[in-house]
Amino acid sequence: MNTYKIAAIPADGIGPEVISAGLRVLEALAAREGSFRFEVESFDWGSDYYKARGEMMPADGLDRLQPFDAIYFGAVGAPDVPDHITLWGLRLPICQGFDQYANVRPTRILPGIKAPLADVGPGDLDWVIVRENSEGEYSGAGGRVHRGLPEEVATEVSVFTRVGVERIIRYAFKLAQSRPRRLLTVVTKSNAQRHGMVMWDEIAAEVAEDFPDVAWDKMLVDAMTTRMVLKPRSLDTIVATNLHADVLSDLAGALAGSLGVAPTANIDPERRYPSMFEPIHGSAFDITGKGIANPVASFWTAAQMLEHLGEDAAAARLMEAVEQVCEAGVMTPDVGGTATTDEVTDAVVNAIRGKND
Ligand code: IPM
Ligand code: MG
Repeated sequence: MNTYKIAAIPADGIGPEVISAGLRVLEALAAREGSFRFEVESFDWGSDYYKARGEMMPADGLDRLQPFDAIYFGAVGAPDVPDHITLWGLRLPICQGFDQYANVRPTRILPGIKAPLADVGPGDLDWVIVRENSEGEYSGAGGRVHRGLPEEVATEVSVFTRVGVERIIRYAFKLAQSRPRRLLTVVTKSNAQRHGMVMWDEIAAEVAEDFPDVAWDKMLVDAMTTRMVLKPRSLDTIVATNLHADVLSDLAGALAGSLGVAPTANIDPERRYPSMFEPIHGSAFDITGKGIANPVASFWTAAQMLEHLGEDAAAARLMEAVEQVCEAGVMTPDVGGTATTDEVTDAVVNAIRGKND
């Protein structure tokens, strides 16, 4: 029997609600499959920890996470702590410190969820956005001089390295190759940004030679937004820089009906470090503690975690259960339902238990 060591970091807002829902579902899957088990340790890092101790996680945080097989992360962000502190204090140090350079964001319209585009339903929109997750516009390079004076200057420098760009584009080609349509769109802004973005285009053309069976094309990020809206069926796998993919993945989430169900995986493809799995939605203070947070994103990212651990059958079973429950209309208010977090979780657990094959 395989044992997977999972570090749970529920953190802020609705994070604890959706992570505990996700852990229940993972337990149900382990019981159903019988071939693996989870050993979960929870860490109380986040904004409350920061308010008590002045840091989002302890200085040896990464050392403590290193022995785990995966990290299951809730959300960061608090109304009374600046966002750049929560982000740069916990999530980004884990992503960057563990070199989780591939951020993978699948988008599909789940059955039962109403999507905003006319005549675009489940099956018409099936994308995976691969976001460069270690450098680019999020490199943290830059600074401020003459702070507070009229002549203050701030720089926010994008850093693109050949190694960083090549490895994410290669990852995206491989992922595209593994999907039925074998189609990749490389997004840049190489008309206006003539250094880093032109290098992206050049590297994409070089890497493409190793994947003759993948059809690929290039898009400028502004034109990409219109293509996503007007021709969603023409897209499959998409690769873009850290910031461009951040923006495009919000649009993708909205076009699939809700950002509330969207998952994300922060992956170290070389498996030197644990990878981290989280819902995209964030801490959502307006509904924290009300018991109505949508747990679907945390289930979907749990499925990504299972795939990463090599448990493909369990991942597929989980997504089938989630789709069955959505199709039956057992959904939280953000996607038009009336169910609570617990009711959706119970329904998914029952769907997992009830399947015979
Ligand atoms: C995301 C989020 C984060 C990001 C925020 C919370 C900083 O928008 O995961 O897409 O931009 O990376
Ligand atoms: Mg975002």
